[in-house]
Amino acid sequence: MKNIVILISGGGSNMAAIVKTAQREAWETSVGARIAAVISNKTDAKGLQYAISQGIPTRVLDHKAFASREDFEAALAACIDEFTPSLVVLAGFMRILTPSFVNHFAGRLINIHPSLLPAFPGLHTHERAIAAGCKFAGATVHQVTAELDHGSILAQAVVPVLPTDTADALATRVLTQEHVIYPKAVKTYLLSIK
Ligand code: GAR
Repeated sequence: MKNIVILISGGGSNMAAIVKTAQREAWETSVGARIAAVISNKTDAKGLQYAISQGIPTRVLDHKAFASREDFEAALAACIDEFTPSLVVLAGFMRILTPSFVNHFAGRLINIHPSLLPAFPGLHTHERAIAAGCKFAGATVHQVTAELDHGSILAQAVVPVLPTDTADALATRVLTQEHVIYPKAVKTYLLSIK
């Protein structure tokens, strides 16, 4: 069985979309994969309640409780490793990761970013897309490398930017598409590995 570990920091709607797809498509038998754990760096991450309600093991590692980024990441890596993951899925996990953490999970660490990378890496993507006058925006699933929001692109979704858009309205339109492409990309990845 291929174990998936999902990391969240907040609402966890992408995590929930992956869980729902895995249930609907019976990934345990059709893909040979299961969501082994959901881990958050925030105690109050809303997504934790959903994971618990689905009977998925959860863990919380509050980054503020650690003296340094390296200490936090060492504990996080150990926590993830307990679940022997074939794939670690960042789903709104809002921590910058050091090269040593990324290297530890090299080739089995993916992320979703709410822009059409390589445009707008980093924060406030929707504000920046509107300010730049973009006519289209979207989301990107990509392999995680040591460079923030880089790494090979696994999937993208495109949505129009409307003249009346606020950042929130655009974020909502993009998020709806994230929920479509992320579960698909996770499944494709899992089917591609032994
Ligand atoms: C999503 O829009 C995701 O693309 C973004 O945070 C949101 C999390 O929503 N991720 C990043 O900005 C990472 N740089 P969710 O918690 O409801 O899945």
